[in-house]
Amino acid sequence: MSRTYLIAGNWKMNKTPREAAALAEAVKGMKKGPATRKMIAPSFVCIPAVADILKGSDVTLAAQNMASVESGAHTGETSVLMLKELGVESVILGHSERRHVYGETDAIINDKVKLALAHGLEVILCIGETLEEREAGRVEDVCFGQLEGGLSGVGSDDMKNIAIAYEPVWAIGTGKTATPADAQAVHQACRGKIAGLYSASVADSVVIQYGGSVKPGNAAELMAQNDIDGALVGGASLDADSFAGIVAFDG
Ligand code: 13P
Repeated sequence: MSRTYLIAGNWKMNKTPREAAALAEAVKGMKKGPATRKMIAPSFVCIPAVADILKGSDVTLAAQNMASVESGAHTGETSVLMLKELGVESVILGHSERRHVYGETDAIINDKVKLALAHGLEVILCIGETLEEREAGRVEDVCFGQLEGGLSGVGSDDMKNIAIAYEPVWAIGTGKTATPADAQAVHQACRGKIAGLYSASVADSVVIQYGGSVKPGNAAELMAQNDIDGALVGGASLDADSFAGIVAFDG
């Protein structure tokens, strides 16, 4: 297995451009193990300032979302072409806040996934169940549906540019983390689903991150699970010391 750990900070709607630039500078200097990749996803308006700072560094620049079409009359949206020109290399799609607060369906997310891939961006496809769905015993049903829907029409070759982030909705911003064993079980099941959709070798190489209240204190134990290949970090990525503690989980 040659998967690298992808530790990504999703800054959500936090940090002004000046604050984002300062935090990006700090992330650039953070020590990481040889098998770890650092990524940050600032808000759209912070991307130019952050891109300047990250140029030539080992930190991947990501966006938190993008429009499902390339250009046109879409007031308030941001296109893949704009992001690429600014040096964005990766995009988070299907985040639970986009699904549950802004009503994005699997079909919309799938359009975005295919558009991003067509333009050479790497995609982090987020999946995850709500508390209600978990309590109804529907975790796999929901996650598998989101995988199938989000990846519809995506070929095996493009899977090298896809990472999955399993983020149980009930663990996001709540301080409740899935136990490492619970998270591992879902990751393993999702890897199995990807093997079924593609092949064992695609499944073996796809990075599956965990997200939901990841902190320096729980990162190592989560990352030690066989099928957990990184973290998508919200709140704890906004503070340089705590993000550094997660990036150096194996240090
Ligand atoms: P928290 O780390 O704040 O729980 O957020 C997780 C998340 O939604 C990352 O995308």
